[in-house]
Amino acid sequence: MAGLFITATDTEIGKTVITGAIAAALRERSCDVGVMKPAASGGVADRMGNLVAEDAVFLMKAAGIDLGESRLVNPVCLAPALTPAVAAAISGVTINIQDLIASFQQLSQLHNPVIVEGVGGILAPLWKHYTVADLMFELALPIIVVARPNLGTINHTVLTVEYGRSRGLHMAGIIINGWKQEDAGVLEISNEEYIKEMTGLPVLGKFPYVPEISVPEGKTAGLAQLAEEYLQMDAIFNVIRGRRVQ
Ligand SMILES: Nc1ncnc2c1ncn2[C@@H]1O[C@H](COP(=O)(O)OP(=O)(O)OP(=O)(O)O)[C@@H](O)[C@H]1O
Ligand SMILES: [Mg+2]
Repeated sequence: MAGLFITATDTEIGKTVITGAIAAALRERSCDVGVMKPAASGGVADRMGNLVAEDAVFLMKAAGIDLGESRLVNPVCLAPALTPAVAAAISGVTINIQDLIASFQQLSQLHNPVIVEGVGGILAPLWKHYTVADLMFELALPIIVVARPNLGTINHTVLTVEYGRSRGLHMAGIIINGWKQEDAGVLEISNEEYIKEMTGLPVLGKFPYVPEISVPEGKTAGLAQLAEEYLQMDAIFNVIRGRRVQ
């Protein structure tokens, strides 16, 4: 099954923005792209009283997906803004990992490719001791790591890549999010160089900070064009099709 798994060095790094941007660009390229956020926490109640994940809403809007697919796109949505394993436990909810995998498989029947946004970072617990890395292993998708441009990012990014490799995962590349070209100095430039050297992975783009984009406000305008301009969409397309990118 063709697809991509987008993780990050931490929570709030830009997984949703980058997943949405890639999905929007693929849609513009006439791909029948699907999106997934397997588990979300910090959900809010909609007018009908159903819990809704703003990440899933943003991704579906960016990819042009009908809201009727919500249950497959986001099978688990929890109210507490905690890691899913803990948010589920205190909500009295059982997270059935096989259900998440079945939802991914169903989405893969409807769309090709399916771009999956992770939860937190690579070792966030989804249910008991089952982590995001375990799900990545079962979905067997190539993985892109979203990283910050600023201080501390070398350590977080290299650790994420090396841990993924230690688990036999296909770590395919890195995207730096929140890049401010006008402010980029020795810190940001040397961070990128060290990350490339230490991981041996390509940086598949430096996505700018764009104030008009907002996950909580569902502002997706211009994402496809930004992805085409600032991400290496041809290389990302090759990753999705299972080709190694240098
Ligand atoms: N390039 C960007 N330009 C403008 N705002 C951004 C950008 N990247 C991220 N943001 C904003 O920063 C916040 C965090 O981004 P995002 O929700 O994509 O992170 P995340 O890694 O998906 O977080 P989570 O772990 O909660 O899923 C959001 O409010 C989003 O709108
Ligand atoms: Mg997110």
